[in-house]
Amino acid sequence: MAIIGSGNIGTDLMIKILRSDSPLQMAAMVGIDPQSDGLARAARMGVPTTSAGIDGLLDMAHFADIRLVFDATSASAHRYNWDKLQPTGVRVLDLTPAAIGPYCVPAVNLQEHLNAPNLNMVTCGGQATVPIVAAVSAHAVVPYAEIVSSISSQSAGPGTRANIDEFIETTSAALQSVAGAQRAKAVMILNPADPPILMRNTIYCLVAGDADQAAIETSINEMVARVHDYVPGYRLKQRVQFETFGPGDPLYIPETGKFTGTRVTVMLEVTGAAHYLPAYAGNLDIMTSAAKATTEHIATHTAQTTEATT
Ligand SMILES: NC(=O)c1ccc[n+]([C@@H]2O[C@H](COP(=O)([O-])OP(=O)(O)OC[C@H]3O[C@@H](n4cnc5c(N)ncnc54)[C@H](O)[C@@H]3O)[C@@H](O)[C@H]2O)c1
Repeated sequence: MAIIGSGNIGTDLMIKILRSDSPLQMAAMVGIDPQSDGLARAARMGVPTTSAGIDGLLDMAHFADIRLVFDATSASAHRYNWDKLQPTGVRVLDLTPAAIGPYCVPAVNLQEHLNAPNLNMVTCGGQATVPIVAAVSAHAVVPYAEIVSSISSQSAGPGTRANIDEFIETTSAALQSVAGAQRAKAVMILNPADPPILMRNTIYCLVAGDADQAAIETSINEMVARVHDYVPGYRLKQRVQFETFGPGDPLYIPETGKFTGTRVTVMLEVTGAAHYLPAYAGNLDIMTSAAKATTEHIATHTAQTTEATT
């Protein structure tokens, strides 16, 4: 497989694959900046490199042997790259918020799009929060979900900074289409604190009617364990909180007026595996771990399908 984009996400993913006993094999690291740290590291680690972007990858002698390409550039660069990759038939896993293909959040819908030619991994905030909203939606109607993801500004490369609008739009869309909220809002905070902060996520779900609090809390705890299986630094910061609003003290929501029901609040922290940036960058780890877990699952599925048809 090849990675396009030798920045924070692409380099973290490459190191994660090379350091694991994964069946995935790194066939190329593709960038546009010959001086980039990611390309230099790739070369030191024995990975073939090109600084000629997508055309450099397509020109590589072994391109025909590459089965899957990860794109970790930016949403606009991904649209350009996809136009060139689609005719080749190679599978693409998109780590930018370009949202060309269907969304994949492994703990929630890994089985749904295994044959999609272009699979979108939403955003780091989406990978952290969609599972929680889905866990609440499994036991209640969620008319509204709101999430706030805080990441260290040191872990947000130029590609991330260029994609803040896409982060908001793609995360909100996945909170609805994958997690089941009727309306959703996503907020991203780039925190410049030094020393850098760990990735934090706060999730609010409004639940209509009588909420089965015990069932919702169990569902969230089970979901956290499921994500923890492929992102070991993913954990609840404190117990799930429930707050009830009755007719006498409704919650006022500017867009929709008075709400009666329950507000579920979940606070999460993600510690990174420190494959590239230090452990504060859980936002890199949750995205690259989700992409790696998805790809390994696709590889197993493809091998089984091929075996069954031969
Ligand atoms: N940093 C995060 O926490 C994070 C988490 C999840 C998803 N993302 C998404 O991943 C993408 C990359 O983010 P990042 O923080 O790694 O940014 P970055 O700027 O560190 O990395 C992007 C890399 O892509 C290269 N690049 C740009 N255009 C290219 C092209 N046409 N062909 C080949 N290479 C090209 C750049 O030179 C750079 O090395 C963004 O879309 C971002 O939204 C970032």
